Amino acid sequence: MSADRYPTEQPTIVTCGLPYANGDLHIGHLRSLVSADVVNRALNRIGQDSIYVCGSDMHGTPVAVNAAQEGKQPDEFALEWHERFLELFPQFNLSFDNYGHTHDETNTELTLDIVETLEEGGHIYDREIEVAFDPVEEQPLPDRYVEGRCPYCGEPARGDECDEGCGRHLEPGEIEDPVSSITGNPAEYRTRPHKFFRVSAFEDVLEEFLDGLEGTANARNQPRQWIEEGLQDWCITRDIDWGIPYPGEDDLVLYVWVDAPIEYIASTIQYAESLVDEDYDWREPWRGDGHIVHVIGRDIIQHHTVFWPAMLAGSDYNLPRAVCAHGFITIAGKGLSTSRNRAIWAQDYLDEGFAPDLLRYYLTTTGGLQQDIDFSWRKFGDRVNGELVGTLGNFVYRSLLFAHRNYGGTPDVGVSPEVEREIQAACDDLREAINEYNVRNVGLVPVELARFGNEYIQRNEPWHLLEEDPDAAAQVIRDCVQLAKAMAILAEPTLPETAATLWAQLAEDGSPGDATLAESLVAPPSTFEAPSELFEQIEEERLDELSADLADRMDLREEESEEDTIEPARIDFETFQSLDIRTGEILVAEAIEGADELVRLEVDIGSEVRQVVAGLKPYYELDELSGQTVVVLTNLEAAEIFGVESDGMVLAAGTDAKLLTTVEPADPGERIR
Ligand code: MSP
Ligand code: ZN
Repeated sequence: MSADRYPTEQPTIVTCGLPYANGDLHIGHLRSLVSADVVNRALNRIGQDSIYVCGSDMHGTPVAVNAAQEGKQPDEFALEWHERFLELFPQFNLSFDNYGHTHDETNTELTLDIVETLEEGGHIYDREIEVAFDPVEEQPLPDRYVEGRCPYCGEPARGDECDEGCGRHLEPGEIEDPVSSITGNPAEYRTRPHKFFRVSAFEDVLEEFLDGLEGTANARNQPRQWIEEGLQDWCITRDIDWGIPYPGEDDLVLYVWVDAPIEYIASTIQYAESLVDEDYDWREPWRGDGHIVHVIGRDIIQHHTVFWPAMLAGSDYNLPRAVCAHGFITIAGKGLSTSRNRAIWAQDYLDEGFAPDLLRYYLTTTGGLQQDIDFSWRKFGDRVNGELVGTLGNFVYRSLLFAHRNYGGTPDVGVSPEVEREIQAACDDLREAINEYNVRNVGLVPVELARFGNEYIQRNEPWHLLEEDPDAAAQVIRDCVQLAKAMAILAEPTLPETAATLWAQLAEDGSPGDATLAESLVAPPSTFEAPSELFEQIEEERLDELSADLADRMDLREEESEEDTIEPARIDFETFQSLDIRTGEILVAEAIEGADELVRLEVDIGSEVRQVVAGLKPYYELDELSGQTVVVLTNLEAAEIFGVESDGMVLAAGTDAKLLTTVEPADPGERIR
């Protein structure tokens, strides 16, 4: 990772996975949209020149199939959804510098240009392949037109993706037991001429790219695995009539995943063209010294770390500096599903009257970016009531009210050294967080500062000082007002609306979105009005109602009992005691050759060092594992896993292997009881 730390002198582009213009947006899409917005705003706050561009994904079978189901033409259908997205985004304070779509002229022209360049470079060739066909309807069945089983993991899959199993991209002809998703007719395979992009020729380029890639660990580790297994060339055409026609071929359009990421560049070009008084050279980030940061969900890592960089390399564009792949959102452990109405819809959330900032906060600070989030209203409410209402809102309100009542605004003294240091440390934490693409910490920094603030007020009790020692009281309140201002700037990336309200309460001009960190130590105006509360407590009954409605709507109650219920059979205490569970310290963590998920650990469990094999590779960097305190089941019988002996088991939670550890530091070998 040789790139300069942010802020750099060069422009940065932040993007988010383009939503398909084929239906309502839900909290899963919002996780991509909001995380990228937070990254872009945080980069700007620390003084990095950065813009946020994206667009709607209009092509491909996701749009064609849904349009057909509604009896609409795909272009008209996709444009309607695109317009609706444009209305929704400002309501979540998603501040795109440009939001275009893949069907517009800029993207179409640029796509054709890039394909031509790839052809000239000898990167594209013809090949006859077997594609799924509906023999009754005499219709080719690309991608989402066909369903079947994944040849890699056996789970139900769609034509081009194993969406419920291993997550792999599937090439035409790969899916097993194919059936038309429109008619239900069993499909047969027929031979058709197609175009292939020689991805395999980019192996070295991709390996080098992955070595330098910043962002989340999953975006580096998963593609390394695919490269090890051997890169396949990529079929880039489809037998449908919705998409960008392949130049010189009457029956073929480009596969949607060719023109979709090109929208990242097209949208940057449109941004440059939209500026009236400023100059912006879109080539700087894409072909010069600037940087590209992609924020996506973990389902589309392969497209962004294999196909896309190969396309960029083959047509002389810069490869991304970072790919941040966030975890998925589930509800009661199940994937969101549009067809089953199993989701929290973005519009429904707003219709409940909740402020957008609350969801932005929940989606970006619940677990690390890489982790899956199992949404529940209860957990949402706990975070809002605890951290936003109880910590941040509480601090700001009591401070500004005290300041207004007793001083009419900011007391006329300087900030104390202790508080100045604290504010500077919080600013450093924000810089650090965004340099690590740690979206969660970006959101937690202002709340942590408020925690300090509350403790500072409690410790100094300014209400007692007012009479006893008026100078000391003025000092404490002066400090609190400055802390509040710093919070407005630090909270702006995650909570832009709240930050703007607080800014106005401090009688500051402009917006915290134009402020940089340096301003967090500049005194606010000497007079300001009485504040109002920044957040509203969500009542327990409200959370109960929302949870019950959600459970009803999704049939959660029944399914819950079938699925992951608490084990009914009780065990006695002796049985529990027969498990020898101890704390351990990871000394060594190494990859196991040929195994996607496994790592070989050497764990110090006090009396000895054990070798344990664990499925952690997709979720952790190897060097981040060493030194961690973990919890080990030590008297599990030894087993050989992938040819390596595993003598014990490291405990972890959930499907994404969140390692267990202790709240207080623990020495290796301490017994869990
Ligand atoms: N159009 C493609 C992306 C093209 S990028 C060049 C696509 N669209 S999507 O509408 O299916 O997803 C848009 C974004 O939302 C992606 O980043 C995707 O990972 C994310 N999510 C969609 N559903 C999700 C969840 N249930 N959970 C978390 N994120 C998910 O993919
Ligand atoms: Zn699979």
